[in-house]
Formats: sequence, C-alpha cells, structure tokens
Amino acid sequence: MSTLNLTINKQDYQLDNLDSRTTLLDVCRQHLKITGPKKGCDHGQCGACTILINGRRVNACLTLAVMHDGDEITTIEGIGMPESLSALQQAFKDNDAFQCGYCTPGQICSATALIDEIKQNWPSHVTTDLQNPDGLLVQEIAERMSGNICRCSAYPNIIKAISQVLENEMNDSS
Ligand code: FES
Repeated sequence: MSTLNLTINKQDYQLDNLDSRTTLLDVCRQHLKITGPKKGCDHGQCGACTILINGRRVNACLTLAVMHDGDEITTIEGIGMPESLSALQQAFKDNDAFQCGYCTPGQICSATALIDEIKQNWPSHVTTDLQNPDGLLVQEIAERMSGNICRCSAYPNIIKAISQVLENEMNDSS
C-alpha cells in the first residue's frame, strides 16, 4: 500500500493506500473514473488502453501506477472533448475511422504520438504520396499503428484519417 501523486490531463490526483500492484489502467478506470482508456485484453495485445506518458504511447494495462509519480499522463479526455475535438479526432470523424468505437480512444492516443514520431524522424529527402495506399508513408503509418487492433477492421479509414492530419502538419511545417 502506498500514497501516490499522479498528474492526468493536467489535473493532480492523490491516491492513498493504493495497492502497489495496481496498473495505471485500473487506477484511471476504477479509482479515478477516467474511462477513456479501454480494457480489451489486459495483456498488452490489443492497444485499447493506449495512453500518453510524457508524450510517448504506452499500454496502460502493462504499467504499474506507482511507476508514474510525477509523469505527465494524457488520456483521450486530455486530447480533446466533443466540444473541442483535436484535428485527429475530427479526421477520424470525417473519415468514418471507427465502427463500434471501442478501440478508438487507444487508436487516437497512439496516432497522436505517431504523428510526432514521424515528423521528428522522417528523412526530409524522402518524398512520398500520402494519397497512394501503397506509398511509403502509408506503409509506415500502418506499421507504427500495428499495436492497435480494430475488431471492426476500420483500418483503411484509420490510416486515411492519420494520413490527412500528417499531411496537413507536414505541409504547415515545410
Ligand atoms: Fe492493454 Fe489490451 S487492454 S493492450
């Protein structure tokens, strides 16, 4: 049992007498009622629980909450809400990038980090056609999103939504 201070979506929380074996996913969902991160497999296989920790995507079911004292944790609620959608959330909506929606919070958290990863690491000399489903960058997106499973198989539209936002961001920064 321990006392833990967490910062989630820029809000501070104190948890007293927390069983130190509690995962970050269970702390969010059961203790704090932050239910955006979903529990699918609870074994690191589906990505439904993906959240951001210091900007990096992490499966919340695989990490203990006590390891994150002082970290900056962001769930889908911190990325955007219905009245203030992020560009990526809007693109998912515009492109029908979901069906049942269960995996969507994890997909969007993962894609949010992916966009930063690609922007930082994509070699500037490599040109690519985002409209081309066989294009290099589209393949890169598919590979980097492979940890997020969609049981409804909305993959083509998920990739289209991410490509659209990435293209806009790359154009804005060029
Ligand atoms: Fe965490 Fe499936 S619930 S990866």
